[in-house]
Amino acid sequence: DTVRISIEPDFTLAKVDERLFSSFIEHLGRAVYDGIYEPGHPEADEQGFRKDVIALVKDLQVPLVRYPGGNFLSGYEWTDGIGPRDQRPSRLDLAWRTIEPNLVGIDEFYDWSKKAGTGIMGAVNMGTGSPKDAGNLLEYCNFPKGTYWSDLRRKNGHETPYGIKTWCIGNEMDGPWQICHLDAADYGKKARETAKIMKWIDNGIELVACGSSTSKMPTFPEWDRVVLEHTYDHVDYISLHRYYENMGNEDDFLSSFADMDSFIKTVSATADYVKALKRSKKTMNLSFDEWNVWYQQKIQLRDWETAPEILEDRYSLLDALVVGGLGISLLNNADRVKIACLAQLVNVIAPIFTKKGGAAIKQASYHPFRDISVYGRGTVLTPVVRGPKRETCWGDAPEVAVSVVYNEEENMLTVFAMNSNRAEGRKVELDLRSFESPRMTFRTELSGPDLHVINTFENPHAVEPKGLDLTQPDGGKASITLSPASWNVIRFS
Ligand code: AHR
Repeated sequence: DTVRISIEPDFTLAKVDERLFSSFIEHLGRAVYDGIYEPGHPEADEQGFRKDVIALVKDLQVPLVRYPGGNFLSGYEWTDGIGPRDQRPSRLDLAWRTIEPNLVGIDEFYDWSKKAGTGIMGAVNMGTGSPKDAGNLLEYCNFPKGTYWSDLRRKNGHETPYGIKTWCIGNEMDGPWQICHLDAADYGKKARETAKIMKWIDNGIELVACGSSTSKMPTFPEWDRVVLEHTYDHVDYISLHRYYENMGNEDDFLSSFADMDSFIKTVSATADYVKALKRSKKTMNLSFDEWNVWYQQKIQLRDWETAPEILEDRYSLLDALVVGGLGISLLNNADRVKIACLAQLVNVIAPIFTKKGGAAIKQASYHPFRDISVYGRGTVLTPVVRGPKRETCWGDAPEVAVSVVYNEEENMLTVFAMNSNRAEGRKVELDLRSFESPRMTFRTELSGPDLHVINTFENPHAVEPKGLDLTQPDGGKASITLSPASWNVIRFS
């Protein structure tokens, strides 16, 4: 039952695009209001942004934050969120049945993003919004000056354009739950015309067309094919969204990475089919701009409140292991997946959780996400991995999920491994003979006797990685044992 991993520095898959470690903030529940923004909180800065939350976001080294939605996007009038605050309207948000006070809009979010050391992945409304509205928003954000919208931005306090480079053309337009949902051909045409307008305004931007909102949609992957047939020459990415939850079989849940893997492979194949059909030289890359564990069965919306406590999943060690496995799948598909957003970032199905007027804590899922973000930069290698497999509801899946990233500049080799076997540890032999005198310099493990333990305000460190003794390779081979149900980071330099 030993897992044998042979690693060759020349066997490379792809350089990791750092946008793989992005996240997402939607106007939903307490993500914005009483999340990143809580004027009156002891940690609030002069704009009302919580500095303790900003410090945690910085620690995650998130390169982009997708904003402002999500389902919210499809009914959002972005002009409601600009200009003097006392003149901004409160509106019904039909997506989440809440009241949107519009105290934070694109201008404030831009300021927050700068403070949090991140960038914005913009999104334009393809539900109630028109291609023209999308162009206006882009002109407001990115055009230097001398036009109606760019001068309005300047009047509202931002002389310098925002330079938002990556934009989503709508959100989950395949979903009947979406405000003004469209069929694939109608969305494809609207997205194409929107893309043309947007690239005419700023040809330095990159655009993401809506792919399927989950691989379980009855329209998957036909939706993706049709959308790409309409948009192929005008967009740069097709999106994927997927959430997993524990449906009772914890082994299957721990193997969710296997399903994410086949979802990515199917969308890549669909995109490649359209590439062939179009006789195109361009390869369509993927933006996995919503992924996480989310207990969708437990959703209980509340009617017409501002910032209600909804979608506030509390993540266990088990959930964190699943997040680690999904991170491994994203890394192992870094040749096609260039952008990925952990959905979401604060309070709403998020790694960061706050108490109104109180502390901000790291949920269990914070740790594997931080590990892949901080240690996963470099080039993903394609090791030869031989080890036990298990039958799961997703088909045969390796018991131990593995990804290997080599950072040439730092001469650092990082092995991520998630042992999904809850009962038994697994011996791992790493063959590093192609590396010159490798030394193990870092090793952490996230595991524990109770997979259901969560971090709380009273005990915020219940789930966190612990450092393990370093085992030095002998004759270029390192031998370690992974604990049952564990997330592991092992680094060599
Ligand atoms: O992230 C929560 C929701 O999940 C988003 O609003 C939507 O895009 C998806 O269905």
